[in-house]
Amino acid sequence: MKFSIKSGSPEQQRSACVIAGVFEKRRLSDAAQRLDEASGGLLTEVVRRGDMDGKPGQLLLLPSVPGIAADRVLLVGCGHERELADSRFRKVVQMAATTLNETGATEAVSYLGELPVTGRSLHWKLRQVVETSAQALYRFEQFKSKPETTYRPLRRMTLMVTDRQMLPEGKQALAEGMAIAAGKQLARDLGNSPANVCTPAYLARQAAALAKSHAAITHKVLKEKDMEKMGMGALLSVARGSRQPAKFIILEYKGASKEKRPVVLVGKGVTFDSGGISIKPSAAMDEMKYDMCGAASVLGVFRALGELQLPLNVVGLIPATENLPDGDASKPGDIVTSLSGQTIEILNTDAEGRLILCDALTYAERYRPEAIIDIATLTGACIIALGHQASAVLGNHPPLVHDLLKAGNESGDRAWELPLWEEYQEQLKSNFADMANIGGRPAGTITAACFLARFTEKQHWAHLDIAGTAWQSGDKKSATGRPVALLIQYLLDRAAR
Ligand code: BES
Ligand code: MN
Ligand code: ZN
Repeated sequence: MKFSIKSGSPEQQRSACVIAGVFEKRRLSDAAQRLDEASGGLLTEVVRRGDMDGKPGQLLLLPSVPGIAADRVLLVGCGHERELADSRFRKVVQMAATTLNETGATEAVSYLGELPVTGRSLHWKLRQVVETSAQALYRFEQFKSKPETTYRPLRRMTLMVTDRQMLPEGKQALAEGMAIAAGKQLARDLGNSPANVCTPAYLARQAAALAKSHAAITHKVLKEKDMEKMGMGALLSVARGSRQPAKFIILEYKGASKEKRPVVLVGKGVTFDSGGISIKPSAAMDEMKYDMCGAASVLGVFRALGELQLPLNVVGLIPATENLPDGDASKPGDIVTSLSGQTIEILNTDAEGRLILCDALTYAERYRPEAIIDIATLTGACIIALGHQASAVLGNHPPLVHDLLKAGNESGDRAWELPLWEEYQEQLKSNFADMANIGGRPAGTITAACFLARFTEKQHWAHLDIAGTAWQSGDKKSATGRPVALLIQYLLDRAAR
């Protein structure tokens, strides 16, 4: 969908539809009031008759309103004015976009950005309108022989501000919103792609495509031979069980001078996780195609970076492999040597994410980064701890963790901290190697992060476990594009310092 921004009054907009809010109980928003006046009180009349009392999520489409230049008016219920906060605002925007997509209007002007949202700026609201509308209309139909497209989908949305002076702020918000939406869309497409298409080599080609289309992005792909030479024994031990060759994908975004130390993003790229020899139960195993959503979020961030041109240096590292059981696969009890030199006893081949991440984290050191952030669908335990609302964040540098939590709150792509105390490290003891790759059932998300912490001791590092947030299950099964918005917000905040 295309977005643009304009100033002007609602009754004068020549458009297929003008969108305005109504509060509970029967209170017209500013834009709705102007439409009401221009139409000789039609909206007051409609509201009085009880067709729209402003309850959250209520919708009313009025065709051919007299005195108004637009073909239709879409009224959206916003609940009580004082209770309009982040999530309700997003819900309102989402409902408006979904409804419009199902009506004949292919284009609309929206006044939802003028609604008062508690504690939020115009910039925030306009960006959310772009992100949320794009998110609501997302479809993944590449693999349907006959696309189930809507008859006349919504193609263009103009965001309205009341005053010309608001246009510069609005334009910046729009640019950010569109870049984030594009990044999320790439992350969602990659996540939703089946594992027989989205292989490690496919992810490598995605990186190549990004480098090709953005001058500030370069890329490099290491093959298994290169990884052997370097000594990435942990990563390669996972790849042994698969016929698809593993790839180690390196992306570099250069938006600042060479001397500026980069932020390194490391994304788990397990394109299918069967569990390996410690095989998973069959129920919902298809969802393990999403085990590369950390990698997809890194690629999504690079797409957004390419569009936003932030004055930063960012490196993306993606260890990509399948985790399958084969005659040559790792077996429980096998001991491998990581790139760091530390040895690992693989007690469960299904704890493969940390095995590929640890070598990438060691590799990240060579960039002398200001911060390393890894993003991974790492533990089922994270879903038990935080559900599908928040990603988990754990790290060894409190200011970095704080910045990520703040970026989550700002972007609406929230995270919550779990402790990374020394005491948990005991659970990773091995009788035969430097450490085991599992820490037992208690605190599974924390012990997984404790494992990674052993490879980042000299660095400022944080880990995002996105097992509960990267995709939705059930009849709305789909990748969410999280945590692209959080990461871009973090980078925007860094660039603004
Ligand atoms: N990719 C999974 C984690 C996962 C499971 C994410 C379900 C989302 C939904 C990861 O590789 C894994 O299998 N983790 C194990 C670790 C255990 C063996 C210590 C898990 O969580 O069960
Ligand atoms: Mn696994
Ligand atoms: Zn996994």
